[in-house]
Amino acid sequence: MTTRPIIIDTDPGIDDAVALAIALYSEQLDVRLITTVAGNVSLEKVTKNALRLLEFFGKDVPVALGAARPLIKAPIDASDIHGSTGMDGFDFKEPTQDRVLKEHAVNAMYRVIMASEQPTTLVPIGPLTNIALLLTMYPDVKEKIDEIVLMGGSTTRGNMGVMSEFNIAADPEAAKIVFQSNLPVVMVGLDVGWKALVYPEDSEQLKGMNQTGGMIYQLFQKYRGGSMKTGLKMYDSCAIAYLLKPEMFQVVETFVDVELNGSMTAGCTVVDLRGYLKQPSNAKVCVDIDPDMFKQWFMESLGKCN
Ligand code: BDR
Ligand code: CA
Repeated sequence: MTTRPIIIDTDPGIDDAVALAIALYSEQLDVRLITTVAGNVSLEKVTKNALRLLEFFGKDVPVALGAARPLIKAPIDASDIHGSTGMDGFDFKEPTQDRVLKEHAVNAMYRVIMASEQPTTLVPIGPLTNIALLLTMYPDVKEKIDEIVLMGGSTTRGNMGVMSEFNIAADPEAAKIVFQSNLPVVMVGLDVGWKALVYPEDSEQLKGMNQTGGMIYQLFQKYRGGSMKTGLKMYDSCAIAYLLKPEMFQVVETFVDVELNGSMTAGCTVVDLRGYLKQPSNAKVCVDIDPDMFKQWFMESLGKCN
């Protein structure tokens, strides 16, 4: 089976942890590098979380530290949702530093992408700071990028501001650079994340599934991404779902830009579904998902973990 080379840029984050589990155990994906970015919590904490997860899974994927703050905006975090460590709820072993590269994430991404025979897919599931820096510092890298499949944005309302989604609002300038990059961009946003839900009965099933399921079950007891009763939202897993089972999504190709200056709307994605702006499309936007197909895929995928 041919595997698809990917780099995951992440800020774990409870839903990031679940997405990483699925990607790392997938036989169709070859996770060549994990890069970290300040987002849900600080760079130091998210990197520690990525290392904890890799140690827990026993996976030898290199980790490179990226941006500790957004390009221009003051940092924000989401510790109210993910807990003060960013991954509250499970007692992980203290991770070794063996997997940590000495290079900055941007340099590590450039090296790994340029050395690959096959074009690489970037999967950012946190703020887009590292990706924007990569595209700006090393424009020649674009030729070797297959696609950017990002979790972020919304076609309607937000989860950070009235209209803005967390990953885009955390670094809107970076997001604008990514949408304007002329690369194939897939936006997997809130519209689908809101329907990618885990209910108490699913969580109970995970508990005894395998050691990963048991760990995730415990993280879910602390995750404030929705209440457990109304369903926990698996935002970041949707980006992995798009890579592995795109048929579960309804996708529209359209023009997307990021509002930088609106006094009430800064950080929101402007998704021109009706073509008002008369601009050529620059993204595939996931506007809907089949929730049952997602659920089945999600449980089956976690069933493949150790
Ligand atoms: C996004 O924000 C973060 O809190 C989640 O990890 C996800 O990437 C959802 O808006
Ligand atoms: Ca995330």
